Amino acid sequence: MKQNGQAVDVVIMAAGKGTRMKSRLPKVLHRLAGRALLQHVVDTATGLNARRVVVITGHGAADVEAGVVHPGGGMLQFVRQEPQLGTGHAVQQAVPALPDDGIVVVLSGDVPLTQADTLRALIDACGGDRLALLTIAFDDPTGYGRIVRAANGDVQAIVEHKDASEAQRTIREIYSGIMAVPARLLKPWLAQLDNKNAQGEYYLTDVVKFAVAQGVPVVAHQINDPVQVAGVNSPVQLAELERAHQQRAARSLMEQGVRLADPARFDVRGELRCGQDVEIDIGCIFHGSVELGEGVKVGAHCVIANARIGAGAVIHPYTHIEGGFSEKDRIEVGSGALIGPYARLRPGAKLGEEVHIGNFVEIKAATLARGAKANHLAYIGDSKVGERVNYGAGSITANYDGANKHTTVIEADVHIGSNCVLIAPVTIGAGGTVGGGSTITKDTPPGALTVARAKQISLSNWKRPEKKK
Ligand code: UD1
Ligand code: CA
Repeated sequence: MKQNGQAVDVVIMAAGKGTRMKSRLPKVLHRLAGRALLQHVVDTATGLNARRVVVITGHGAADVEAGVVHPGGGMLQFVRQEPQLGTGHAVQQAVPALPDDGIVVVLSGDVPLTQADTLRALIDACGGDRLALLTIAFDDPTGYGRIVRAANGDVQAIVEHKDASEAQRTIREIYSGIMAVPARLLKPWLAQLDNKNAQGEYYLTDVVKFAVAQGVPVVAHQINDPVQVAGVNSPVQLAELERAHQQRAARSLMEQGVRLADPARFDVRGELRCGQDVEIDIGCIFHGSVELGEGVKVGAHCVIANARIGAGAVIHPYTHIEGGFSEKDRIEVGSGALIGPYARLRPGAKLGEEVHIGNFVEIKAATLARGAKANHLAYIGDSKVGERVNYGAGSITANYDGANKHTTVIEADVHIGSNCVLIAPVTIGAGGTVGGGSTITKDTPPGALTVARAKQISLSNWKRPEKKK
């Protein structure tokens, strides 16, 4: 993004400890909606088309640096802050990485839900020659830096709660921790910071005083959506923000026509796209990228990751669909398919139209063609299953010999009885039937009944052993 020809460079402060999380994991790596807090902020910066994204790390730096990805490529840069002497000191560390000609946007790695539009408006307010602060009014501003204004309304200073007078503490407008400022103005101000304050820290917020002294206009861009400036300091706050985010996600889906049985019992941890007339019952979780075609119904308590579910398919309750990110591992469920209850589809399950998968059936890396059915208690892995195959209860493909995985091919119109073991590599010829209880080790001819089990015998003069007296 450019403002009057000026590029935007983002600084994300993420060096703080996050003591109140009481966790070994650095705070900014805790997840909201399935993504690390810091990843949300990096993604927002990417959405601004930032020229550079500089992340200030300190506590748990190596983990934090390894814990985020930048889809945009090379502009993500980490700078370490050791020790952590305050927010001003944090941004000082970024100075060598910031070109003089840009607008610097300062964000925090623990404030995940700021919208790019809000930041664009803040950058507009900065305009390349002003200091723009993102502010909000709180009924309880305890703990925040207060926006101190002159009688004419001009912003004069940010005073931290611990340094504020009684009168200043009654000010409800607070600094969100987010600002936009031209680099050429910011750099000399940073060089003037001191730590003569209640916390003995170098406060970034002191730059406001320098701007005022120098006659640089300071503008407060005030918003009224607390979620966008909410920071995460504790597990309670993390859970509250997660709910706020999920409620928004639920609302936006319902506005597109999706029918959620209860928006309070619904979680998207990634991207969910829905066709018309989709119904989702309570307690479902969607991970990664999931597409539900027109008229899909998802029963209660399903977990669905990285999958495309075709139109009219029904996913019955307690079904686990766990696709992976790659095209190979992604799960496909054909239109009109019936899955579950209690089914498990693992990476690479590709099910055609009208396939039926019933309770306690596990499918992994297998293609099932149109109309194939496995209705109870079965395992199909590393397999190719033809159209209209009927796969009996308790039957499995033994695809793993302890070292390598092999493929099972079940051609069209085959019936596999109950409790069969198909030892791969093996092909069951089209239209054939495998008798219940068979262990199949060799290919079977098309159309034939194949039985591979001990013949049934009956001994009529047999006597049960009796207990010795
Ligand atoms: C800061 C603001 C305050 C504002 C509040 C909004 C200052 C001095 N105060 O206060 O006006 O109302 O945010 O939430 O800026 N960090 C570092 N290195 C450090 C210190 C902090 O990277 O040396 C990071 C933290 O990890 C965090 C962010 O900077 O992500 C903000 O620090 P925090 O201590 O939470 O700031 P506050 O004291 O809350
Ligand atoms: Ca602090």
